[in-house]
Amino acid sequence: MCGIIGYTGTDRGAIDVLMNGLSSLEYRGYDSAGVAVADSSLAVFKREGEVSALETAIPDDDIGGTAGIGHTRWSTHGPPSDTNAHPHTDCTGDVAVVHNGIIENYRTLQSELEADGHTFNSDTDTEVVPHLIETALAEGATREEAFRQAVQRLEGSYAVAAVFEGDETVYAARNESPLVLGLGDDGYYLASDVPAFIEYTDRVVYLEDGQFARVNPSGIVVTDEQGAIVETAVETISWDPEDAGKSGYDHYMLKEIHEQPTAIRKCLRERVTEMEGSITVSELADLERQGPVQFVACGTSYHAALYGARLLREQGVPAQCYLASEYDVESLPVGNETLVVGVTQSGETADTMRALRAANRVGASTLALTNVVGSSAARECDHVMYIRAGPEIGVAATKTFASQQVALAMLSQVLSPDRTPETDFIKRLRTLPDRIQRILDESNAQAIAETYVDADAYFFIGRGYNTPVALEGALKMKEITYKHAEGFAAGELKHGPLALVTEATPVFAIVTGESNAARTIGNIKEVEARGAPVVAVTDSPSDVDQYADHILEVPSSGPRCTPILSNIQLQLVSYWVANQLGRSIDKPRNLAKSVTVE
Ligand code: M6R
Repeated sequence: MCGIIGYTGTDRGAIDVLMNGLSSLEYRGYDSAGVAVADSSLAVFKREGEVSALETAIPDDDIGGTAGIGHTRWSTHGPPSDTNAHPHTDCTGDVAVVHNGIIENYRTLQSELEADGHTFNSDTDTEVVPHLIETALAEGATREEAFRQAVQRLEGSYAVAAVFEGDETVYAARNESPLVLGLGDDGYYLASDVPAFIEYTDRVVYLEDGQFARVNPSGIVVTDEQGAIVETAVETISWDPEDAGKSGYDHYMLKEIHEQPTAIRKCLRERVTEMEGSITVSELADLERQGPVQFVACGTSYHAALYGARLLREQGVPAQCYLASEYDVESLPVGNETLVVGVTQSGETADTMRALRAANRVGASTLALTNVVGSSAARECDHVMYIRAGPEIGVAATKTFASQQVALAMLSQVLSPDRTPETDFIKRLRTLPDRIQRILDESNAQAIAETYVDADAYFFIGRGYNTPVALEGALKMKEITYKHAEGFAAGELKHGPLALVTEATPVFAIVTGESNAARTIGNIKEVEARGAPVVAVTDSPSDVDQYADHILEVPSSGPRCTPILSNIQLQLVSYWVANQLGRSIDKPRNLAKSVTVE
């Protein structure tokens, strides 16, 4: 979703830093991009399309100026176009503004500003901000005051930054949209996310809701809503910029699929003692569960949460899973004893944050299970457990899903009323990285993808722990191939979806574990009778190969760990279908890595 980068420094031209930053933010998903560089005048360039299109719009001769802001836009108000791209300027062209989020009262503000004679050029909600600044300046405010007064008129969510002509200061503020400041040796940065400037500095300050920042080459000053200076804590990020390169893979998604063994090792490190059969998550030392657990999450994270809720129920803990956008504290039993777990790799998803905040308001304890240190979820929840997957650039969640599952497996043990060591389960968790590596080395997913690349649609079925695998398999397929795909609990197939099954709709059946296999094989027979080709993801190929046209084999790792392996095979199938179709795998159309609107 929209991304912001800002820079002010001494030695380096702002334009290079901004363009690098925008490239690093591409993974968030966007449809247009732009920059504004402040020198004696303000140079603004913006284009619909990719950052590469913006590059061609910028003249070759040196763009002077050591301060500026840049933006990748994911349309909310008005279609993607050069005009709707950020930055937006006022009537004089002296101030430029970039914004992430939604300004809910923009219509009222725009009417008021138009009545005062301001002319608007775009369809965006953002454009009210530079005009509000212009008004405040005309009334005698300093630039900093004008920025503050403008922001204080906004209702909704925003991360917003502004630069003025002839000024090396970048002004910024946030409310419910992420913004992080970077402290470098030769300048200061601000961005929606650390990868935008990680190649320059790993020292960061996270802005909180309601805070303002004034950033210039001599330093940063953070103030609260009343203008009082706030003491800020500088944190050091441990991400290696190398991690964010493609390392020879054609796509980040493929690289990240291959990083899963390492990601899982990191997730388990120092938390699991195999000899004692114990699991200790130090961040959760003071977490005491008293009542039921409710999971809130979206998309892939929701599929991980379904898995987590089932694990907990098996441990005797009452646990339910909710789509964060549907979570309603008014109609659900949520109270002081409820633990609400937000599963969110980015820690910024607006729907999930809304659900967590609502849970907090009614007195529940909240726990963020996230990948991003310092994210909104990590900072606002009572407890946080990091999944430690490392940066995930591809919009399609892959390694974060596997790491979420492993973290949830550990969490299920931490929250279990019965802390009897489960040595066998822990051993299986420990062997996951090697087993995933084996799948990655030996998978025949590419050949299966080639066989079925022209299919009309893809269906995925599974039971029990394999239901979330089926749902996730379908989500990944539709997300990156743009083809119709649906996931079902296998038993549901005959209650409607079977009408869609034909010779041109391969069915991927996840048939692992003994207790459910026989019934899922029954469902395979149903689809075969309608002529559909069947691909079985299985740990017992000899039982299934008489029914399936193709096998994707996974090592048998027990009912709770085998689903983590099955998903890897399905990730690979989707990747190779999308690759065959020449799709924009890392940046699928219409999607964003971090979905910061509800
Ligand atoms: O950052 P989150 O985990 O909260 O994101 C939730 C979903 O937007 C996300 O999982 C989305 O479904 C992925 N792009 C799927 O690959």
